[in-house]
Formats: sequence, C-alpha cells, structure tokens
Amino acid sequence: MQMKLLIVIPTYNEAENIGLFIKAIMDIAAPLAEIEILVVDDNSPDGTAEIVKGLSSVYPEKLHLLSRESKQGCATAYLKGFSWAVENNYEFILAMDADFSHDPKYIPQMLEAIGNNDMVIGSRNVKGGLIENRTWIRNALTKFGSLYCRMVLRCPIRDITGGYNMYRKEVFEKIGIDSIQSRGYSFQIDIKYSVFRAGLKYVEIPIVFPDRKYGKSKMSGKFMLNALRDVWKIKKSKGSDGSVVQFMKFAATGLLGAITNLSLFFLFGDIFDFPETRLSIACFLIAGTQNYFMSHLWAFRRNTSGESISLKKWLFFLLGSTLGLAVNLIILNIILFNYKLPVKLIAQAFGLFAGMMVNFFVSKLIVFRKKK
Ligand code: GDD
Ligand code: MN
Repeated sequence: MQMKLLIVIPTYNEAENIGLFIKAIMDIAAPLAEIEILVVDDNSPDGTAEIVKGLSSVYPEKLHLLSRESKQGCATAYLKGFSWAVENNYEFILAMDADFSHDPKYIPQMLEAIGNNDMVIGSRNVKGGLIENRTWIRNALTKFGSLYCRMVLRCPIRDITGGYNMYRKEVFEKIGIDSIQSRGYSFQIDIKYSVFRAGLKYVEIPIVFPDRKYGKSKMSGKFMLNALRDVWKIKKSKGSDGSVVQFMKFAATGLLGAITNLSLFFLFGDIFDFPETRLSIACFLIAGTQNYFMSHLWAFRRNTSGESISLKKWLFFLLGSTLGLAVNLIILNIILFNYKLPVKLIAQAFGLFAGMMVNFFVSKLIVFRKKK
C-alpha cells in the first residue's frame, strides 16, 4: 500500500516560486507515494493563490488551497495546515517553505526514514548538512541560535530551528496542536522540543539549505531575537523539572515506597506471621521495584523519555537503594554511638536523609544518566 502524504506549504508573496515548486515536488515524489499538497496562503498581493488555483486542473484532487484573509505569519499557517491534515486523516505530513530552501530532492529519503520514526528532521547541523549562499554572519547566527537553544532546553536536536520536517500524524495527536503557542522562529523550536519531551522517535537527516533565489524572506532579525527570549518560555511551559523538583518527586517516590514496604511488612509479618528477615528483604525488593518504576516513569522522566523499562536499570536501581540503605545504617550507628539523643529517631532521620541523597545521585548520575 502506498503511503499517504500531505505536503503543507505556507505562502506569502511566492508567485515567482510556487508554480515551479509544486511541479518540482510532484515530479520527484508522486512516483513514490500518494502525494497531495496543501498551500496555505494569506491573501498574497502578488497573486500566489491565483497561480495555485490555476494549477489545480494540472493536478486534479491533489492540490488544495486554504486562503486566509490577511497575513498572519507562517507559524499559524503551518499549524492550520497540520490541523487540516489530521482532520483529513493523512498518515504523513511534510512541512516545506515555498522558496526552494527546502529542496524536494530529499523527500524520498525522508519517506524512507519516516518508516521507523515519528519525525524526520531535515538538518543543516549534522554531518553532511549545510547552509549555502548566506553571509557568514547569518550562518554563524543560525549555528549560535541552535546551540543556545540546545543548551537552554537541554535538547539534543541539532537543527532545532529548521522548518523542513516530516511527521507521522500521531505526533500532532500526541503533543496537541493547540499546545504549540510560539510564533516566528520559536514555533519550530516549540514543536521539536515537544516531540523530544514526549519521547517520540526522531531522526535528523542532512540537508543542504540554499538561500532563496526569488522573492524576499519574511523573517526578520527581530524574530531571531525574540526566539532567544522565547526558549525560556518554551522551557517553562513544557515543564522541564529543575533538580529541586526532581529531588522532591524522588522523595515522594521514596515515601510511597516506604508505605508499601511497611504495609506489606505489617500484613505478612504481624497478621500472617512470616519470618521477619526474609520478609523484610522481600519488602525491600518489592518497594524498590515500585520506586524504580515511579522514578523511571515520573521523577526522572526528563532523563528517560523514550526509553523503555529495562532489567539492567532495575538492577542498578536496586543496587543504588542497597547502597543508600548501607549509608543510612552507618550514619544511624555513628550518631547513636557518639551522641546522647532524646529520641533515636533523630539519628535515623539523618541516616535516612544521607541514604536518600546517595540513592538520588546514583539514580540521577548512573541509572537514569542522560544520554548525549
Ligand atoms: N501563509 C503565510 N503567511 N506564509 C508565510 C508568511 C505568512 O505570514 N510569512 C512567511 N510565509 C511563508 C513563506 O512564503 C515561505 O514559504 C515560508 O513561509 C518561509 O518564509 P521565509 O520568509 O522564506 O522564511 P525564512 O527563510 O526566513 O525562514 C525559514 O527558515 C528558518 C530556519 O532558517 C522558515 O522555515 C523558518 O520557520 C525557519 O526557522
Ligand atoms: Mn526562506
């Protein structure tokens, strides 16, 4: 069965490009997949929409046009196109600018790569990728921008601002189109960060990105500066936990683990009279396993996004817990032997806290260590 792909192209004053561009796409991609094109035009004064309408007889049922009344920016044009694609049940969606910066020759590779990914990113910043015919200063700015965003967001996607991307429909169902609130350049960052955070599978394939030949870019330096500010908003709204929040979640996980441990101990020890030592070990293992799942899926979700539960991680996690327990016992005894305390609980509280810190850092730095 052929793949059903919708290519979304936003246009504003692209009369010189759009006809040639549609033809270029169709020539390359139509033999490979069931391709349709959606142009989202904002009432371009240069008559872009009329050209598209004129072409609809050349590509019957394949070429669609959404016209908006006024210029509203390419971000909302793309989003509008994505919603339309989801509503009309296209399996795959490809975003492309009309100005030939996004070379249609990469479509076959993207179609192939989407087979086992949720998103394929046309990337200028991986080996083999390149920006052509732009001043070195614009190049440097793009590179710096990407690096800056990656550092702020701690997101490994190398070309985070690029717009030449293919998606599986489910991506938008999962992240929710309405959750993408950013505009301008930040819009691309917002989508990619959401994909990353949702744990979806993406791949970057190298593209050469030439500057447009005809027409003018609608993006300004102001958009770029705004993007530098917007990444912080994106980071905040998409909820990347800081270390303190992470520790609190980890502590809550530990608390629930203790409740499980004690409940089981009470049930089987006090009511059913199981032997204490073996029961205690069993409780430790069960509560430890619960802690592992909660850490993986919740407290350390930021680190594990996309990875599945693993036996190895579980074992390392239990080892970390054992180490934590050992530290807890050592501190408990040191304090008990050296100080006269009104209640022994104080010694245990210090011990528990030290043990938890050990546990937390083993989890953070070893078990759920973030991959580069
Ligand atoms: N409908 C609509 N409305 N389309 C628009 C509007 C608008 O207000 N503004 C721009 N477009 C269309 C253009 O006609 C073009 O097809 C596409 O959106 C990209 O616009 P350009 O003006 O060519 O943007 P750019 O080359 O500066 O930026 C591109 O590359 C950046 C990365 O370097 C875009 O893809 C950005 O999203 C991307 O971040
Ligand atoms: Mn462009």
